[in-house]
Amino acid sequence: MALSKCINFRLARTGKSFANRRFSVTSSQRSSAYSEKKNDEDESRETHFGYQTVKENEKAKKVHAVFENVAGSYDVMNDAMSLGIHRVWKDIFIQRLGPTHGTKLLDVAGGTGDITFRYLNYLKNTRNPKNLQSHVTVCDINEAMLDVGKARAEKQGWTVDKGYDIAWKQGDAEKLPFANDSFTAYTIAFGIRNVTHVENVLAEAYRVLQPGGRFLCLEFSQLNNEALQWIYDKYSFQMIPVMGMLIAGQWEPYQYLVESIRKFPRQDDFKNMIEDAGFRQVNYENLTFGIVAIHSGFKL
Ligand SMILES: C[S@@+](CC[C@H](N)C(=O)[O-])C[C@H]1O[C@@H](n2cnc3c(N)ncnc32)[C@H](O)[C@@H]1O
Repeated sequence: MALSKCINFRLARTGKSFANRRFSVTSSQRSSAYSEKKNDEDESRETHFGYQTVKENEKAKKVHAVFENVAGSYDVMNDAMSLGIHRVWKDIFIQRLGPTHGTKLLDVAGGTGDITFRYLNYLKNTRNPKNLQSHVTVCDINEAMLDVGKARAEKQGWTVDKGYDIAWKQGDAEKLPFANDSFTAYTIAFGIRNVTHVENVLAEAYRVLQPGGRFLCLEFSQLNNEALQWIYDKYSFQMIPVMGMLIAGQWEPYQYLVESIRKFPRQDDFKNMIEDAGFRQVNYENLTFGIVAIHSGFKL
């Protein structure tokens, strides 16, 4: 009896430890199978790059190549393609931001500095009786665009010796290299339609803004007039890539530009996405019949 109890006990223990060993092998296999499956899923997930369907992990590389290629001719092409109107849109954008002295601005996808220089200029022309210090950080994923921006800052006199200390930071809008609650304002102009996950960009904007901070986005949007849309389509699909070829010697980046505009969510859908990220008092304003729109929100 005692012997059979002992044998049963040993069998039970052996069985248990065997089962455990099997379980531990199975669970590690399962977890590695899970991460392999997840990686496969990540790699196989698709998105759009203009009208092309590409793997998600390819899009960022392709967008990077676009701006790497156009950095040198970016500002000239902006003037040519928009007939100079982008300047007016950007001026209105900064007026809507209406920065006050003491603002800490993060300009994401800031590229060659157009928004940043307008922000500094706005403050320069605003009284500062309390002598408050303002800041601006330009963040962009592309060093080539930032290098053009730095050279422009020197040329335009936005330099440290004149009291302007712009921080230029290479970084991804989807994973910003800044601490929580660091800025009082966040701008992104003509940048958000280029990212792979718009919702990640919005979540990051929310994270780095201080409570009370302002989110402001300027982006190409959708016209709501069919006749104007027809003219706009003809102009953008038939003229812009040709201009790119003639002025910058490149066709593809400008074909992507036009296509990426058509793929971006409509005004109301984008507004909903901004609200889903946690922003409040979200609204938008169409400029030039909705060719572009300014979306605004607050972290409250
Ligand atoms: C059309 S330019 C806009 C530049 C500038 N904001 C302006 O209005 O002139 C788009 C910029 O977005 C940047 N960009 C694209 N994807 C990005 C990302 N994931 N994170 C940060 N910047 C990004 C590009 O490098 C490029 O400089």
